[in-house]
Amino acid sequence: MDVKDKIIVVTGGTAGIGYTTALKLKEKGAKVIVTGRDENKLTHAKEKGFDAQKCDVSSEEEVLAFYDYLKSEYGYLDVLINNAGFGKFSMLTDLKAEDLESIFATNVKGAMLMAREAAKIFKEKDYGAIVNISSTAGLKGFPGGSAYVASKWALKGMTECWRAELRKYNVRVILINPSEVQTDFGEKVRDTINPTKLMAEDIAFATVGALEMNDRGFITELTVFATNPK
Ligand SMILES: NC(=O)c1ccc[n+]([C@@H]2O[C@H](COP(=O)([O-])OP(=O)(O)OC[C@H]3O[C@@H](n4cnc5c(N)ncnc54)[C@H](OP(=O)(O)O)[C@@H]3O)[C@@H](O)[C@H]2O)c1
Repeated sequence: MDVKDKIIVVTGGTAGIGYTTALKLKEKGAKVIVTGRDENKLTHAKEKGFDAQKCDVSSEEEVLAFYDYLKSEYGYLDVLINNAGFGKFSMLTDLKAEDLESIFATNVKGAMLMAREAAKIFKEKDYGAIVNISSTAGLKGFPGGSAYVASKWALKGMTECWRAELRKYNVRVILINPSEVQTDFGEKVRDTINPTKLMAEDIAFATVGALEMNDRGFITELTVFATNPK
């Protein structure tokens, strides 16, 4: 796909991996709409020239209102990047049910709601792409990861279902599994960057590259590790 002039929604596109991906797509001439919840981050994205819309993906009402806006303003959609997500980490014996529920509400239900509405447009157009930003936590569990890991395994499972359902409509459903990326993910706020570890631009590169591949084929799943982190 040539991303120039394509209508692309990036959820959680106001910060981190989503924002950097949105910037890269905008540089290439795509019409990018970013979503998020935090007003300051939305204002910053607007100042950078994005159409930035408040939409908590865990709220069905807000997702439906967002798609009403999208259809009235742009008419259709070419690509959904399901990037909004977060993690909280604790050992099983300390795991709070409400933390698991809130992680699932965004990482699983939110991705499903956004994809469901996108898929309706894509089926009508007989064309589209969904990129789900998962994690290496969606490939392998680790201590303290129960809620987040389960949410990303669920996203991987849904990705396979959507791919099987939508391929015949020329919709490419792509899963990206980043390893640790230096953003403000989870409860971290970083003030130093380690040059040997992954940065948001590395994941943006992977996502944009996968989209730009000729539409006759697609990369089903792509995992990104730091080469030699120190
Ligand atoms: N950083 C890593 O190490 C890493 C590794 C593997 C995978 N990932 C995945 O990559 C994705 C992006 O993470 P990141 O590192 O870029 O995190 P980040 O810097 O914390 O950015 C997260 C973005 O998602 C938005 N967001 C969170 N919950 C949302 C919701 N319910 N509705 C709408 N927007 C929401 C945030 O905006 P608001 O604050 O306004 O809600 C923000 O724009 C996530 O799915 C994460 O699981 C991250």
